[in-house]
Amino acid sequence: MTKIEVLKLLKNNGEYVSGEYISKSLGISRVAVNKAIAALKRDGYTILSSTNKGYCLKERADILTDAEIKNGLATEYIGKDIICFDSIDSTNNYIKNNYESLNDGTVVIANKQTGGRGRLGRIFVSEPDVGIYMSVLLKPKSLDRVTALTAMTAVGLCDAIEKTVSVRPFIKWTNDIIMDGKKVCGILTEMGVEGETGNVQYIVVGIGINVNQDSDGFPEELRNIAGSIRMACNEKINRVKLCKQIIKELDFLYLNFDSFYERCLQSYRKDCINIGRKILVMKTQEGIEAEAVAVEEDFSLRVRYPDGKEESIKSGEVSIRGMMGYSQ
Ligand code: BTN
Repeated sequence: MTKIEVLKLLKNNGEYVSGEYISKSLGISRVAVNKAIAALKRDGYTILSSTNKGYCLKERADILTDAEIKNGLATEYIGKDIICFDSIDSTNNYIKNNYESLNDGTVVIANKQTGGRGRLGRIFVSEPDVGIYMSVLLKPKSLDRVTALTAMTAVGLCDAIEKTVSVRPFIKWTNDIIMDGKKVCGILTEMGVEGETGNVQYIVVGIGINVNQDSDGFPEELRNIAGSIRMACNEKINRVKLCKQIIKELDFLYLNFDSFYERCLQSYRKDCINIGRKILVMKTQEGIEAEAVAVEEDFSLRVRYPDGKEESIKSGEVSIRGMMGYSQ
């Protein structure tokens, strides 16, 4: 895409570059150069123009644009199409409303959500400039193993975070990513099925990551349970870099779903913070005491009640809270 090439050229030069130089170097018309510059400005870049000298990019660090994220990203399936918004109600909603015209594997990313949604009808707080709010559209033939898809996404997120900050997060069953005892990321998988035929219309995997918030970046009532990667690692994270890594991991995992299933399961079992701990199975208001004993082959959670009875809990049926706080 021309604007990505123009952006690369402006970045590499650092100084003013003439329109003529850009057009010759990229083999495009002056009109195409002007259009690319206008598109980059719309994306939020500050580009200074001077009649004599041409264009100069004033670097604005870490903005989530398709040009930044696509730069150097060579994925086969996930992220071939990337759509970025500065603000939107919900990236999951965008995909649900537009899936027919979007390609399989499209990634939608927002800098801010005004109606971010979490599991079980909760709100997902989506403040600007500090998080990544991303949804991935999949158009599979069947609905087989959707639970596994969400679980494998959790493993992919742990891999991406570990590769970016050298700390491996934990997973709190079913799909919360935990660092330093606090939730830094949640996944909301939704799907559409055609009523008459039962055919899958879409699966949307929504991922919300708290990246650079500090402790007062969360509403009072969430401060005990929500954290950010920055808070856990004591360093500011480049969101573009993390976004790219996530897309790469998901591309790899979704393309190799069957051959990596077993490895993901082993990884998930190792990362799962609940195993061997007392938990509350929230089937009732107060919850029922149990011990989490294992993650099953299909990623459901095997729990043992005090009377010795065991049960496998599947995603979506219950919410599990640690008895000593959020994730302990
Ligand atoms: C949860 O923890 O309950 C799941 C949170 C999922 C939030 C993400 S942010 C991107 C996508 N758009 C939404 O409205 N929700 C998901």
